[in-house]
Amino acid sequence: MKNILVTGGAGFIGSAFVRYMVETYPDYNIIVYDKLTYAGNLDNLLPVSDEPNYRFDRGDIADRETVRRVFDLYDIDTVVNFAAESHVDRSILSPDAFIHTDVVGTYILLDESRRRNLERFVQVSTDEVYGDVEEGFSTEDDPFAPNSPYAASKAGGEMMVRAYHVTHGLNTVITRGSNTYGPYQYPEKLIPFFTTEAIDDRPLPVYGDGRQVRDWLHVDDHARGIDMALHRGEPGEAYNVAGENQRTNIDITHRILELLGKPDTLIKSVPDREGHDRRYAMNCDKLRALGWERQTTFEDGLEATVRWYIENEWWWRKIKTGAYLDYYKAQYAARLAASDSPAP
Ligand code: NAD
Ligand code: TYD
Repeated sequence: MKNILVTGGAGFIGSAFVRYMVETYPDYNIIVYDKLTYAGNLDNLLPVSDEPNYRFDRGDIADRETVRRVFDLYDIDTVVNFAAESHVDRSILSPDAFIHTDVVGTYILLDESRRRNLERFVQVSTDEVYGDVEEGFSTEDDPFAPNSPYAASKAGGEMMVRAYHVTHGLNTVITRGSNTYGPYQYPEKLIPFFTTEAIDDRPLPVYGDGRQVRDWLHVDDHARGIDMALHRGEPGEAYNVAGENQRTNIDITHRILELLGKPDTLIKSVPDREGHDRRYAMNCDKLRALGWERQTTFEDGLEATVRWYIENEWWWRKIKTGAYLDYYKAQYAARLAASDSPAP
């Protein structure tokens, strides 16, 4: 392993992985391949932009010709695929891009990886493929039951990864991460969205009763989990990367407001997300057996993350303009207008 292509490396988790890998493995060449969609942002890679073992190339993982050119140009031997459309609410509004990238794009990458006989292919997936988990903890052998178009597109990508391992012997590993938070997360996901809205004293639209449970994982712990699976994972296997830290959305919302010194009156209960999964929770003994351990507690991680958004307005203010505002309107205008109740 020497020349690692990190697809989607300009996004939230991909860029954390790149920053970590460039620093940890000076002998590897880390090449980011990213389409720079609305969620891709070269600012996320500024901390490594001058490092000699880092390169960036722009392109779509579903564009076979460009993928081939990049594989040749950098003599790629390993792929870590973060590239995806990643937001559930957008997958409800417009699913096309999810099928294009998460399903077709994953297939093109796999197919080109097989043709070149790559050493390793890591697919970054999600706990959402297991669907709603009313009680207990998902293990890697549980059946899939995706409920949103996003979750279904990720499950579809995973199925193709499995097929390329079984049929063609490609050396694949899959990671399934839980809800991730930290710096540089696009302000459409719960924690950065509510933090940046609350800084501006704007309403926080909590879906339904706010009692849905997610399992929160710090982005640096997620990045190290993927590194562990890359280096030590068994070919053809999947590994859960869990925060083992379950919180309701409303508890997190209160905590963000507390950290910012803002009033709970900003909380608005709005009509629920369609098909909203109540709870995700995973067991991650399998990854732990490879030697992975979490390093960040949720209390410390959330506090540091909120502080990061306070101190880095330069990063998020310019994002929350233009097309972002069109999305905000489509997703929230009617919901907030329908909201007559305050905090759930
Ligand atoms: P993100 O939306 O922040 O970033 C996605 C990146 O992929 C962006 O840089 C974007 O430009 C790029 N991209 C999108 N379509 C592309 C295409 N066709 N070709 C090349 N690049 C393309 O996403 P994220 O939150 O960093 O998630 C990264 C991966 O981790 C995804 O595969 C996601 O499914 C998975 N995941 C995310 C979470 C989470 O909580 N955010 C949890 C578990 C798993
Ligand atoms: P999100 O960050 O979109 O991640 P995911 O849907 O992949 O879990 O949402 C996390 C939780 O927060 C989820 O239960 C939906 C809820 N949520 C709200 O209540 N209001 C919002 O405006 C957003 C973006 C999310």
